[in-house]
Amino acid sequence: MLWPCCLLILTLNLALAVLSADNYSREDFPPVFVFGAATSAYQVEGAAHEDGRSPSVWDTFSHGGGDVAVDEYHRYKEDVQLMAETGLQAYRFSISWPRLIPNGRGPVNPKGLQYYNNLINELISHGIQALVSLYNYDHPQSLEDEYGGWISRNIVRDFTAYADVCFREFGDRVSSWSTINEPNIFAFGGDSSTEPYLAAHNMLLAHSSTVRLYKNKYQSKQNGVIGITLYAFWLLPLTNSTEDVTAAQRARDFFLGWFVNPLVFGDYPEIMKNNAGLRLPVLSNEESKLVKGAFDFIGLIHYYTVYIKDNSKSLKLENRDYSADMAVAIFFDQDEDVPFVLFPQEYPRRPWGLQGLLEYFKQAYGNPPIYIHENGQVGRHNMSLEDTSRVEYLHAYIGGLLDAIRNGSDTRGYFVWSFLDVFELLDGKGSSYGLYFVDLDDPSLTRLPKKSARWYSTFLKGGRVGSHGTIELEKTLDALVSEG
Ligand SMILES: *[C@@H]1O[C@H](CO)[C@@H](O)[C@H](O)[C@H]1NC(C)=O
Ligand SMILES: *[C@@H]1O[C@H](CO)[C@@H](O)[C@H](O)[C@H]1NC(C)=O
Ligand SMILES: *[C@@H]1O[C@H](CO)[C@@H](O)[C@H](O)[C@H]1NC(C)=O
Ligand SMILES: *[C@@H]1O[C@H](CO)[C@@H](O)[C@H](O)[C@H]1NC(C)=O
Repeated sequence: MLWPCCLLILTLNLALAVLSADNYSREDFPPVFVFGAATSAYQVEGAAHEDGRSPSVWDTFSHGGGDVAVDEYHRYKEDVQLMAETGLQAYRFSISWPRLIPNGRGPVNPKGLQYYNNLINELISHGIQALVSLYNYDHPQSLEDEYGGWISRNIVRDFTAYADVCFREFGDRVSSWSTINEPNIFAFGGDSSTEPYLAAHNMLLAHSSTVRLYKNKYQSKQNGVIGITLYAFWLLPLTNSTEDVTAAQRARDFFLGWFVNPLVFGDYPEIMKNNAGLRLPVLSNEESKLVKGAFDFIGLIHYYTVYIKDNSKSLKLENRDYSADMAVAIFFDQDEDVPFVLFPQEYPRRPWGLQGLLEYFKQAYGNPPIYIHENGQVGRHNMSLEDTSRVEYLHAYIGGLLDAIRNGSDTRGYFVWSFLDVFELLDGKGSSYGLYFVDLDDPSLTRLPKKSARWYSTFLKGGRVGSHGTIELEKTLDALVSEG
């Protein structure tokens, strides 16, 4: 049985959302639209020292925090079963480079190969599409030690060779590939004036070289699609002053245009070239040709909207870095007293921000195919399964997405982060996004459905959900429960 009996009583107090799509069902989306959920290798697999895997830079950074994670390496069958019961059409996961090719290049680890073959076969046999991220921050530590990871151009060759192994071994069963996850989040890591620009440049080249390889050698036989996945706030001006309106556009160019302009137009945004000067690598003619058009889709990781205030005075600094070049201040709210933090206790619910973001891609970049690769609500990681705030968040954002699609956005898929509670890269066991609760300190690592798992499952199975749909939702759930 899917739901423990203690969870049968449903009290959905969905606040009346100010949305046009506040009562909708799966059938309102195009039939080819794909709904799923996501995780990443280091955050779920565990088995960090087993079967020939070598350490990645994240093992080093998090001091072994993901050594066990939720043990998906050993429990993938149970998890795929749970995905099937939930009604997921697709699962987005990442391959661990150091599990597949422990030295970063050279021999393939047969046990690693076996694991990903098993996982993919298990998904396919349950009718669940496999969406693969090739890279989720976790390159082998050996490559970091050897040449500094992404700041060296050597990684373009090694990354492409690693991707070649993945396409060759798994590509016949993978419907969608994302090369690099959140390359633009390096913006927040860099305290150096040049490294984020250099790393991003090498990521663009590695991405594009990988896309070219896939398109030339595999795509016509394997019929998958390939793209890149960007972290995407929606960015609005704090006030309507000319300075703030200009600053908000500058922030869009720095956060999104950094990668999307080269991919769509073949060059970095003018404002980045102006403000970063010689610290921004130049895309040569040859590189520009390689990069331009190197995608079938853009994946977006969207959680919330922020407000941007002009901070042009930082351009007067002599030693500037990425954020001084961007020259803005970021706010959570239209209130300068609320300090910005990247990972708040809870994300503000601004579904119109997702619509704004998608409208921006439509107008600024010619409406490319988009996948929402991550969206979801953060909370403290505790025993509470009554995650009403997550239900309200998902309901609002999926509704906002529907409005955007109805208004012409070419968005083709949506993935909740995360399928289950995982080891969060920057907050360890402290915060949680999962549809399923997992106590990471309890050796049993039991998966328990939260209210959000039941809500998403109802929606995926065709139930009509929404603020006016509460009664229908309860009926659908009752039917599900009595069937199960
Ligand atoms: C800016 O102008 C828009 C459109 O007139 C308005 O909706 C919005 O509230 C204004 N924002 C601020 C912060 O005044
Ligand atoms: C558990 O986390 C939720 C969501 O963040 C929060 O609302 C609730 O107060 C927390 N409960 C406890 C007992 O800490
Ligand atoms: C709908 O699309 C049109 C054309 O792109 C645009 O002008 C309008 O602002 C969009 N509406 C919303 C709510 O995004
Ligand atoms: C939800 O919308 C549908 C039409 O889209 C309508 O038939 C149904 O009555 C609505 N349900 C509620 C509870 O508002």
